Amino acid sequence: MNKSILMGLALIPPLLLGGLALAQSSNVTSLRGAEVDEPVILDNIPRTVEGRMQRNYRQQPPLIPHSVEQYQIDTRTNQCLSCHDWTKAGERNAPTLSMTHYLDRDGVELDHIAGTRYFCNQCHVPQADAPPLVENVFEPSSSN
Ligand code: HEC
Ligand code: HEC
Repeated sequence: MNKSILMGLALIPPLLLGGLALAQSSNVTSLRGAEVDEPVILDNIPRTVEGRMQRNYRQQPPLIPHSVEQYQIDTRTNQCLSCHDWTKAGERNAPTLSMTHYLDRDGVELDHIAGTRYFCNQCHVPQADAPPLVENVFEPSSSN
């Protein structure tokens, strides 16, 4: 090995030590603003509201009284139907889709869900017990 390479190698440890010292002296602040061993109290996390909810007007699509996180809906599969379709609802103890969900756009009665009612979450949504983001002043008309 020639001399200049040896000199170079000898420089590595002091350089490494220098870097380490620098890293330790810089002030590291944690992202959550607390020490690692300190418990951090979280704000309340909103939960899905369970249990049937009152409709606000007669024609309202009923709100979903359960979590929908796991239920996939795409062009090949619709997991809502595995409980709510008329062929399954009895054994799953779930409310059956009303007959309007089996009428096509010409009013023809079908044996399977109508295409216009396939994507359930176009109309049905779950609720969270979170404070409302905007004020809601909706009032149902008494005559509808
Ligand atoms: C594992 C079975 C199951 C699946 C899957 C399921 N549900 Fe339900 N659903 C139920 C049951 C049981 C009830 C009744 C709950 C109750 O009475 O509290 C219900 C209630 C509802 C209601 C309320 C009906 C009413 O008259 O108040 C709606 C709307 C609804 N589900 C929509 C959906 C949608 C949309 C999906 C898919 C994203 C879905 N459900 C998936 C079992 C299921
Ligand atoms: C275009 C809007 C729309 C779509 C899409 C839709 N629904 Fe509905 N759904 C309604 C409305 C409106 C009602 C209440 C009036 C009625 O029964 O037709 C209702 C009623 C229901 C009920 C209560 C039935 C009863 O007799 O109490 C269930 C359960 C339900 N829907 C589940 C579903 C599921 C599951 C899907 C997807 C496969 C779905 N809906 C798709 C609008 C929709």
